[in-house]
This record gives sequence, structure tokens and C-alpha cells, in this order.
Amino acid sequence: MLVLVGFMGAGKTTVGRLVADRLGLPFIDSDLVIEHRTGKAVRDLFAEEGERAFRDLEHQVVAELVGGPDAVVALGGGAVEHEGTRRVLQASPAQVVYLRVGWEQALGRLGDDPARPMLRAPDLRRIYERRLAWYEEVATWVVPTDGRTPREVGATIIERA
Ligand code: S3P
Repeated sequence: MLVLVGFMGAGKTTVGRLVADRLGLPFIDSDLVIEHRTGKAVRDLFAEEGERAFRDLEHQVVAELVGGPDAVVALGGGAVEHEGTRRVLQASPAQVVYLRVGWEQALGRLGDDPARPMLRAPDLRRIYERRLAWYEEVATWVVPTDGRTPREVGATIIERA
């Protein structure tokens, strides 16, 4: 079981798909599981129910996924905001791979994506800084992504997985 964590724009989904293909494992994106289960887009869940409700739902889904069948799982960038989710990741035997991305690189990769409600947070930089320690805390290993293509990052992961 490989779980990819990291800030928005780290490349979790792109790299996750590549790695899953190469390892012959299913790829699961926790945001898509949440959208499928609720029948709502992430941005609508944020708007209608608030971030706290989204994080609780995300916590449940992450606990199920890491306890489930072998897969490559990409988590939403904010999953580590929830203490229970951090605990689930730390207690799990899964390899938790932190895709580290610098602030400038993350912004450059993201543009202005309306599907990502957190991009409109006025204190996004502070949120980014706050999460860095949490990613480190849950990670089994850290893979830098700045200046590297998803293929290069994927190759690094496959070598060690
Ligand atoms: C979020 C990141 C998103 C998604 C939601 C909240 C965040 O996932 O879960 O919009 O708080 O950073 P990605 O990291 O896949 O964009």
C-alpha cells in the first residue's frame, strides 16, 4: 500500500496514476471517493457543509482506504489537517510518501483552479507552512518534486516501493 500526501500541486494524482500503472495496482483518489459517496463535488461540499465536515468525511474515507485492499492512494492536500487522519496514517503499515513541493512551484502548477476551494483562502501561504511539519510527521519517506517531471518522481518511488 502506497499513500501519497503533499500540498496541492505536488503531483499526487499524476504521479499516483503513473506509479499504480507500473506496479499493476489500482489508483484511488480520496477526493473522488468522497465525491462518489456524497454525490457532490468537493467545492460544493466546502461551500454547503464547510471544511470541518469535509475533513471528518475525509478522515473516514482515509481510514477505510488504508485498511483496505492494496492500492496506490492519493490523499487531498489538506487531509493532514485532521489529527485523527494523521494518527491513522502513522499507525498504518502503508508506505506514506510525501511529495514535497516548494511554495512557488505549487502555485505555478495550480493556476486558478475553481475545483480547489482552498486556493481562495486568504492565508494560503500560512496554511502551506503549517502543513509542512504534518506531512513530515506522517511520512515514511519524502520525495522532492521541484524541477522534476511526474515521470522522474514516479521512477524514484518505484525504485523504492
Ligand atoms: C484540499 C486539497 C484538495 C481537496 C480539497 C482540499 C486542501 O486536494 O482535497 O480541495 O485543503 O489542500 P488536492 O491536494 O488533490 O488538490
